Parts: sequence; C-alpha cells; structure tokens
Amino acid sequence: MLTRTDAHVTTWVIAIILFIVALLLHKAGREKAAKIVHMIVRLFYILVIITGALLFFNNQSINPGLYGVKLLVGLLVVVLMEMILVRTVNKKGTGLLWVLFIILFLAVLYIGLRLPMGWHPFA
Ligand code: HEM
Repeated sequence: MLTRTDAHVTTWVIAIILFIVALLLHKAGREKAAKIVHMIVRLFYILVIITGALLFFNNQSINPGLYGVKLLVGLLVVVLMEMILVRTVNKKGTGLLWVLFIILFLAVLYIGLRLPMGWHPFA
C-alpha cells in the first residue's frame, strides 16, 4: 500500500469515470441520479487523497520537490473536478475550468509516471 500505486490508480480512475457519469446524468436531466453519483465522486476524492498522501509520506524523501509538485497538482485536479460539477449543476460557465483541468490532469499523469513507484514509461 505504501509503495504500490494500484490502490491510488484504481481510486482516481473510478473518480474520473464517475465524474463523467455525473456530468452525463445531469446533461440528460436525471438530477436525482446525478446527485447520488456526485456524492459517490466526493467519497472517491477522499480515497484518492488518502492513497496519494500515503504514497507521498512514505516516499517523498526520494525527491521532495517533485513529490511536492505531484501532491499540489493532484489536489488541484480534485478541486477542479468538484468546481466543474458544482458550476455545471448551477448552470455557470466552466470553459476556463475545463482548460485548466485538462492541462493539470495531463501534468499530474506525467509527474506521477515520472516518479519512481509503479509504472515509469518516461523514466
Ligand atoms: C485525480 C487526481 C490524481 C491523478 C489523476 C493522479 C495520478 C497519478 C499517477 C498516474 C500516478 C503514477 C502511478 C504509477 O506510476 O503507477 C500517481 C502516483 C502518485 N500520486 Fe497521484 N494522482 C492524483 C491525485 C493525487 C493526490 C491528491 C495526491 C496527494 C495527496 C497524489 C500523490 C501521489 C503520489 C505520492 C504518487 C506516487 C508517485 C511515485 O512514487 O511514483 N496524487 N498519481
């Protein structure tokens, strides 16, 4: 758990899938279902953060700078997901948030895969 990335990868993949499902349900006008899935997405935010934090505290001494950036960008991606969902439900603009989300999501994937645990195709 503290060096293997499986739990972390599983939780963020499920979080992203449910995030998209919640948006699609909202778009389809199925507000009640969208609300329930949104609650489950929030539970997965917590699991992503807990599994990421465990990996962080156990391994950050290897490269504190890059691990610090990974933690920060990972948290920002989670915050952006929540902001996009809330603003979509409230019918507010999300254009800039989507641009930031895509850039930071790609960045967090790249940094995560560069860091030493789990897969490292770029190392
Ligand atoms: C949706 C948000 C996130 C995504 C998409 C994401 C993505 C990733 C990816 C792709 C990896 C590499 C997995 C592997 O090589 O097997 C990883 C590892 C990691 N993530 Fe995240 N992450 C997210 C959120 C977070 C958060 C919030 C934290 C901190 C609280 C965090 C901390 C870490 C740490 C410490 C590692 C281990 C890096 C290593 O030693 O190789 N992540 N993450």
